[in-house]
Amino acid sequence: MSVHREIRLARRPFGEPGPENFELAEVTVPEPGTGQILVRNTWMSVDPYMRGRMDDRASYIAPFEVGAALDGSAIGEVVASRAAGIPVGATVSHFLGWREYAVLDADAAAVVDTGVARPQDYLGALGPTGLTAYLAVTRIAPVGPGDVVFVSGAAGAVGSVAGQLARKLGAAKVIGSAGGPEKTKRIVEGFGFDAAIDYRAGSLAERLAELAPEGIDVYVDNVGGDHLRTAIGALKVHGKAALIGMISQYNATEPVPGPSNLYDVVTKRLTLRGVLVTDHQDVLPEYLAKAASWLTDGSLRTEETVVEGLDQAPGAFLGVLRGANTGKMLVRLV
Ligand SMILES: NC(=O)c1ccc[n+]([C@@H]2O[C@H](COP(=O)([O-])OP(=O)(O)OC[C@H]3O[C@@H](n4cnc5c(N)ncnc54)[C@H](OP(=O)(O)O)[C@@H]3O)[C@@H](O)[C@H]2O)c1
Repeated sequence: MSVHREIRLARRPFGEPGPENFELAEVTVPEPGTGQILVRNTWMSVDPYMRGRMDDRASYIAPFEVGAALDGSAIGEVVASRAAGIPVGATVSHFLGWREYAVLDADAAAVVDTGVARPQDYLGALGPTGLTAYLAVTRIAPVGPGDVVFVSGAAGAVGSVAGQLARKLGAAKVIGSAGGPEKTKRIVEGFGFDAAIDYRAGSLAERLAELAPEGIDVYVDNVGGDHLRTAIGALKVHGKAALIGMISQYNATEPVPGPSNLYDVVTKRLTLRGVLVTDHQDVLPEYLAKAASWLTDGSLRTEETVVEGLDQAPGAFLGVLRGANTGKMLVRLV
């Protein structure tokens, strides 16, 4: 009987989580039943939203359970199959990450085409973060020709794609923000933004006003807090914002006050609209077809920060919360 490893929630954090919140456990590799597949996970995703799942709080997705394996997006190879339609050797995406092997009902896994993209792309540019970026700039706060667009978290998985897609949609100017000079350099030189702001150095509002003196048409918010307040102040009349995430407050231990300038939403008739990628899976086929060809022709550029081994997955996750990644943070399992 062979064993594999999984990461469990050891205890819930208060504020910023640390390694003590996770536990590595050895368990027996499960056997697939009728209609099931056994998958050897090759890549797994660590994502900021997982911080919310560490708390015992009702939300759009169930909290992690103390003492149980975590879950989340993963890619793997089918090593045993008792399901018609998914053969041994297929590469699948599914939601039982944070473990080395997973048994799944066949309908909980999707076979991915490794002929058009690398397996790990299906966790990033061709996965939930890429689709979120696409939704933001097409459905939620549609970017049009000539727009000035501001993207926060612009060196990250969602933000780096959102800025490039805004350009494809005809934006006249794409501005990104991130923490530190290396990331701002990557935003411009690697991802092709027109300009980047290091939000840790100086006043975000002053820098944005310098770069967009007439204001911005669209804001893509990955960060919340001061970024959202600044963007509301900079949006033009009838401006739009896609509210994707608010990572600046995920570790907050007290209620976070809203932006002090919300009345601007009235006076400038702004549209601020939230989005959850899980509501828009109907767009995935359309997006996959487009994004795979953009990856192939090089017009969508991606980066990854890769951490090796399941035992390093908690550190990778803690790193995402602290900004240790450029592009998508991934864990390679084999
Ligand atoms: N609504 C949805 O369906 C959906 C789907 C996917 C992701 N999201 C959200 O989208 C956002 C980005 O997710 P992602 O997966 O692409 O992560 P990511 O941007 O690749 O990584 C998170 C980044 O957040 C930045 N950050 C951390 N603390 C910050 C702070 N206090 N202020 C400003 N930036 C901070 C860090 O970069 P710096 O070094 O630049 O600080 C870090 O690298 C998150 O808020 C996430 O929850 C939402």
